[in-house]
Amino acid sequence: MTGAVIIDCDPGVDDAIALLLAFGAQMPVMGVTTVAGNVPLSLTYGNARKICELAGREVPVFAGCPRPLIRPLATAEEVHGATGLQGADLPEPRGKGRSQHSVDFLIQQLLSAPAPITVAALGPLTNLAVALIKCPQIAAHIAQLVIMGGAMGQGNITPSAEFNIYVDPHAAHVVLSAGIPTTLITLDVTHQVLTTPERLAAIRAIGNPVSTAAAGMLAFYGQSDLARYGLPGGPLHDPCVIAYLLKPQLFTTRSVPVTVELTGEQTVGRTVVDWYGSGSQAAINVAETVDADGVYALLLEALATFS
Ligand code: BDR
Ligand code: CA
Repeated sequence: MTGAVIIDCDPGVDDAIALLLAFGAQMPVMGVTTVAGNVPLSLTYGNARKICELAGREVPVFAGCPRPLIRPLATAEEVHGATGLQGADLPEPRGKGRSQHSVDFLIQQLLSAPAPITVAALGPLTNLAVALIKCPQIAAHIAQLVIMGGAMGQGNITPSAEFNIYVDPHAAHVVLSAGIPTTLITLDVTHQVLTTPERLAAIRAIGNPVSTAAAGMLAFYGQSDLARYGLPGGPLHDPCVIAYLLKPQLFTTRSVPVTVELTGEQTVGRTVVDWYGSGSQAAINVAETVDADGVYALLLEALATFS
């Protein structure tokens, strides 16, 4: 288990499941920052607050950047799969929302914490990039950064690119070049962690309100990927980041240089992973394999902790 964690996200169903995994596993989440991505910022912020309410966790949630650094916001047509939190009857958040911007929360917490903080990045990297541009010294205060993003094989928003990196490739470039100890979990790995009918039934069988809501959301999630990639279940992307933080031995990684394609007409947002390590770019850890049963076991265990 890690020390204090900030989760930057754009819920989104799989972000929501990732938050529930973190909360159920008693991860020390000190804040949730939200960014525009799967849905506009007002919805990612509201959805994150609803998930905290559902889980009964009083974790501060912040709204962040409403659009990418340079590219326009992804259109609803571009956004793939299930994007809202349909399928779940989620409670309205009680209490007042926070007015501090995600970027300022990140900077303030990173600079003032007694020990470096872990950051889990589950959406486009705009908040982190802006924080690094505003205050580059925060890089030294991040214990580790684990990102769901990128594709070495097939993309999911274009043939080349994965959604989080494609939405804000310039932000991804800023973040991946910041010298932070980083682990990247790409589609190549998350497409192995699938919500098969058996796994969905196991979540349903837990039978508490949180697991029931999770099953409701997952029943709809990633259905377009089934036909598109011939998968037997929807991929569970973002929970892989939390699973990696909880139990890194479920994954194998390799340290290799990674760059983000910023200009290619067909390839913008592609993560170019240099398995030969020949370039001058600093290396980051890239996940190579995952124990999918192990990730699902963690999720089931975490969901069963709610009453
Ligand atoms: C990523 O894109 C989003 O739609 C998901 O929440 C995940 O973070 C997968 O490509
Ligand atoms: Ca996400």
